[in-house]
Order: sequence, then structure tokens, then C-alpha cells
Amino acid sequence: MSYPIKLDVNNMMDDIIGARGIPRSALEELIPALEEAHESVQGKRGTGMQGWMDLPTGQEDVVRDIEATAKAVRERFDAFVVLGIGGSALGPAAVHQALCHLHYNELPKEKRGGPRLYIEDNIDPERMAALLDVIDPATTCFNVITKSGGTAETMSQYLIVLDLLKKTVGEKYKEHIITTTSRTTGHLIKIAQREGYKTFYIPDGVGGRFSELSPVGLLAAAVCGIDIRGMLEGAAAMDARCLSGNVWENPALLQAGLMYIGMDRGASISVMMPYADSLKLMSDWYAQLWAESLGKNLTLSGQRVNLGQTPVKTLGVTDQHSQLQLYTEGPYDKILTFLKVENFRATTHIPHGVDDIPTIAFLGGKTHNQLIEAERQGTEYALYRAGRMSQTITLPEVNAHTVGQLLYFFMMATAYTGALMNIDTFNQPGVEESKVAAYAVMGFESEQHSAKREEMKNKPAGKDRYVLD
Ligand code: PA5
Repeated sequence: MSYPIKLDVNNMMDDIIGARGIPRSALEELIPALEEAHESVQGKRGTGMQGWMDLPTGQEDVVRDIEATAKAVRERFDAFVVLGIGGSALGPAAVHQALCHLHYNELPKEKRGGPRLYIEDNIDPERMAALLDVIDPATTCFNVITKSGGTAETMSQYLIVLDLLKKTVGEKYKEHIITTTSRTTGHLIKIAQREGYKTFYIPDGVGGRFSELSPVGLLAAAVCGIDIRGMLEGAAAMDARCLSGNVWENPALLQAGLMYIGMDRGASISVMMPYADSLKLMSDWYAQLWAESLGKNLTLSGQRVNLGQTPVKTLGVTDQHSQLQLYTEGPYDKILTFLKVENFRATTHIPHGVDDIPTIAFLGGKTHNQLIEAERQGTEYALYRAGRMSQTITLPEVNAHTVGQLLYFFMMATAYTGALMNIDTFNQPGVEESKVAAYAVMGFESEQHSAKREEMKNKPAGKDRYVLD
């Protein structure tokens, strides 16, 4: 069954929202560049760092292995813990939130079907301690995910878990660890081979933030009973829609064109506003994808540009009561993207009960389904009235197929936008400095880190007058 998601950009256009919208002529003028971007992205399919474009259809053996492993995990373990950060955690978390019960971990085991899921994407000591308070290592499976195979956050978690498992289950610790990493680079693969851990591979051409449809995301999803084949089918369906070089047929290309023009006209912020709790963490996943891919200081030809668009994560209707004031009356620097769900998987009826107060009585006999959509329409209308750009992506329902489509749509839109911007969409040199500095602070011994320690000592001293205590 197919459930095509829909992109409605009416409220991006100046003939709908007025002068602050995008003129259709601007999009027409961009067509040669869009065609070039399309050719560039499609032409590199499956090569370089575009291996993620092969994932929807090109990994049948891997999918079978994931399904078999997930079955065994579901039968044996009470908890499944993902140890990973960034692209190794945001996708699994977004998909779990979208496709599992919203209180999955609190459900009794027979209703859950699979183990409780914990995605540990930080090294806050209190969070680690809290995790260890609620799991029993003897009945827990740990999935250590790192593409580079050396990320300090993830590897420090691995060391803690390894020690714990050795103390609690002895030699059997190896049966409690599954690694997901690069087959060719990094240290985790060496450790995994030495220890004999069950290992899944992240293909070389699949970067962290483009890896959700690889074993990075598929294993945790399958362990929780998600239809991973449905997700891949959805992604493949979106891939087919994104093959067209015609901007009016290819939703990701249209999205890229409008975002690019929007940025050029001062929309430096992209607000993601799902009107569904199930899609709340899609905003987190999108934020990394959009920020890390497009926030770049150099073009491919070495020109300094400092481009990018800041993603903001919000939730409808919750953030109507928090940020909407800014969106309707603040600077004209935002594009809002609504994620709308046509059919929710539950209906909550609002009973009558206070019929003498009209402002409450009108709610009686309606549903939350009606109310949340009415509020979304209200927000969309308020933005329209204020002449602000917004667009709506409609999911007929949240299911494996539509989630696969959505993930792939955003990845394609990111790739096309990066091509339009003439930047390297798939690197992240800007995160290196902080990593080296942190290792230097931690006392890592290498020429580079010693030099960094010295350099950091030479930073001008802070002034007491700027510190309040
Ligand atoms: O998109 C990326 O490549 C990064 O955000 C990584 O996902 C993140 O830094 C984690 O890296 P790794 O999977 O190598 O541990």
C-alpha cells in the first residue's frame, strides 16, 4: 500500500502571502541551477559520500541479517541500549518515537513485544548513572554505534558497559554487545573482531546523519518491532519521486529551490513544527541533518561564504504557547515547516460537561484530532496573515512507509540544497576544533594535542569583571 506524503508550498509564495514570499519568477530563474544540482546529486548516486542513496533497495542481505538478529534480541533481552551520538542516535530516536507507542518503555512486556529501548546520546554522568539504575546488565543488549569507530563519547560508554558486563555476566559479556561501525576504518571494528562481537557495517559512503536507513537505524527499529521493510519501501518510493529533474514533479528539488531562495532573501532560520508528538524527534534529526550539512564557511571552489540556515526544533501545539509570538511578529528571518498528520492512530473524544460556558462548551462532542488540526490551521493562517513563509508536509498517517518517505525526502532536499550552495554537504570540518580541544583538556598525548594545550593556554585571560558570582 502506498501513502504518498504531500508538500504544499502555497504559503511560501508571494502571490499567496504577499511581498515577503518568494516570487515564482525567482524559482523560474533558478531552474538552470536546479537542473545542475539535480544532475550533480543524481550523477553521484552511490558514489563518494552518496552511498545512502543505495540504501532503500540495495541491502537485502543486511536487512535479513538485521531481522534475524532483532528476533533473537527480542526473545532474549529485556532492554536494548543504543550507545551512540549525533547521526548514530538521532535517527533511531526519531523513528522509535514515530513508530512505537509514545510510552513504549512503560508498557508491559506482552504489549511491547520487544525489549525496552534506551538511546544514550550523551555523557552526562547523571544520565549514565540513571540508566544503570533502571537496567539489569544481565538482561540487556548494548548496541555500540559509531561510524568513525573512535568517538570519545561513545567509546567511553562502551568502556563503562564492558566493565559492568564483565563484572555481572563474566565471559558471556560478548553476547550482550552488538557493534555497528565502519568495516574499513576506526578502532571499534578492530575491537569487535578481536572480541567476536556480532557486527553490522555502515557503508563507507554513508555519513552519520545520512545513516538512519542503514543498520544504524534499522537494527534498533527492528528490535522494537518496526516494519523496517516498510520504511525502506517508503524511502524507495520517495527516491522514485526525486528522480525527476522537473522542480514541479520532484518535491525535494522544489524544497531545495525554495529554501535556497529563502536563505538568499534573509530566511536564516528553518523552524520545524510537527503537529504530532510522534514526529517530535524528527525535528531533532532534521536539525542535525540541515545544520551539519549546510553550515559551511567555504564553497567547493574555496570561496569564503559562511552559509547555512539555523534549524529550530518546535512542537505544535505546545510551542504555540511559547514561540508563536516571535514567529508572527518578530524578524522576517524564518521559514516554518509544518508536519501535518491526516489520520492519527488514536482518537480522543472530548466529552460534554460544562455546557453553560460557551468558550468551553464548544469543545464538547469534538475530538483532540479535530482540535490539533484546527490549531495547526490557525497557526498557518496567523502566519499567512502576518506575511510569513510556511509550508506543510502532510503525512496521510504516521507509519513505516511515510516515515521512510519523510526521512528520504529530507536527505534528498539537503543534498540538492548543498549542491545549489556549491558546498560539501557531507563533511563537518567545523566540529573538529572542539573535539581536539576537548581531547587536549582530557590530557590526550599526541603532538597535535600537546600543541593545542599550549595554544589554549595562550588564549587571552578572561576578565573578572565579566564574571558574576
Ligand atoms: O553526521 C555525522 O557524521 C556526525 O554527526 C556523526 O554522526 C557524529 O559525530 C557521531 O560520529 P560517529 O558515528 O563516528 O561516532
